[in-house]
Amino acid sequence: MEQNQQWSSKIGFILASAGSAIGLGAIWKLPYVTGTSGGGAFILLFVLFSLLIGFPLLLAEFVIGRKTQKDAIAAYKHLAPNTKWYYIGYLGVFTCFVLLSFYSVIGGWIVQYIFYSVTGQVGTGNADYEALFNHAVSNPALAIGGQALFLIVTAFVVGKGIQAGIEKASKFMMPALFVLFIVLIVRSLTLDNAMEGVSFFLMPDFSKLNSESILFALGQSFFLLSVGVSVMVTYSSYLKRDDNIIQPSISIVGMNLFISIFAGLAIFPAVFSLGFEPTAGPGLLFIVLPSVFEQMVFGQFFLLMFLVLFLFATLTSAFSLLEIVVAVGSKNNNNRNRQAWIMGIFVFILGVPSALSFGIWSDVSIFGKSIFDAADYLVSNILLPLGAFLISIFVSYKLKKDILKSELIRGTKVNFLFEAWYFLLRYIIPLVIIIVFLDVTDII
Ligand code: PHE
Repeated sequence: MEQNQQWSSKIGFILASAGSAIGLGAIWKLPYVTGTSGGGAFILLFVLFSLLIGFPLLLAEFVIGRKTQKDAIAAYKHLAPNTKWYYIGYLGVFTCFVLLSFYSVIGGWIVQYIFYSVTGQVGTGNADYEALFNHAVSNPALAIGGQALFLIVTAFVVGKGIQAGIEKASKFMMPALFVLFIVLIVRSLTLDNAMEGVSFFLMPDFSKLNSESILFALGQSFFLLSVGVSVMVTYSSYLKRDDNIIQPSISIVGMNLFISIFAGLAIFPAVFSLGFEPTAGPGLLFIVLPSVFEQMVFGQFFLLMFLVLFLFATLTSAFSLLEIVVAVGSKNNNNRNRQAWIMGIFVFILGVPSALSFGIWSDVSIFGKSIFDAADYLVSNILLPLGAFLISIFVSYKLKKDILKSELIRGTKVNFLFEAWYFLLRYIIPLVIIIVFLDVTDII
């Protein structure tokens, strides 16, 4: 599909792609995977992967989108006519579809927690947050209801094509989230024994790493930056041909890494101080943060504010996930609304087993994992690395070097940066992905 849409301003593009990138990955997933995968060494590796692998890939997707001005599938067809490379686009669409199916489960938990917060069940002292969390995720009606609500909002916004308007709100929401995190960090760091948490989070102990945690760190960096699925191809296709892409990618990576570190610094000191387990898993944030807010003046109000901002960040990522599925399916804007609802319903159906896997279906296991974990594993540790691998190969082997050069650095003299980017894409990234991948399949 030719893009007839365009961002009304440069900031619109930055906000939308930052909105896609910043979400559960930084705020919910990273802290819990860090907790289960060994702490500081994992974070160090994850930051390295994000800078040396995720970041160059983000730029690569931006180059494809801005150059072709086409959606995730048409873009590859345009650049490599009569080849099968456009399957990268289909792989991305499929990945987003599965990703949204379990993403919405967590979105549903946030919806539930907003409700609990309004009704005073969290944030008002003496609640047993572990019990509350278990109730929230294991009760089928609540889990599925929350997930449905989350998807209804997503389908509504994407169907109407009004994400851009909503993303404008993130101009205020994201800074507010930053500020709230700083308040949280201050509170968390002034708890007793806070330093134990800080050192767990930031002091690398490499003996805690194994092949699997290295793969998790890699998958996490792709998940965090929304790369490997051509979402960023689609978003940058709405740019004008001469818009800058380097600046936005630096801001996106920078902001996202900041939020990631903030989330960890808010959570881990409290984990150790208040006697929780860092290995608590997906419930970590939902159990620990309410307890921190409880230790604050106006805690209940701040908690509600936090949950609303958190939901907002999660929704803007969900919009991008559904958008790419809808953009491919609807050839013109007429049936967009219908398409959004139909796809939303399919995503919901696919997601129900994930939602139930924290409760009545917790015994069902796929390759030794719960349904939710299996879906997440498939996406984060197989499909995203595969998509990323193919994109790095496509850009660096299939596209001409001088074209890439003129696309990326536009006549400026920063040649060595281009060379470094090209080298990473052509040699390092594919190699690292293969090695990390094979290493794990070896031990399974
Ligand atoms: N980056 C998003 C997050 O961290 C998730 C996402 C991945 C969104 C891939 C779009 C595509 O929450």
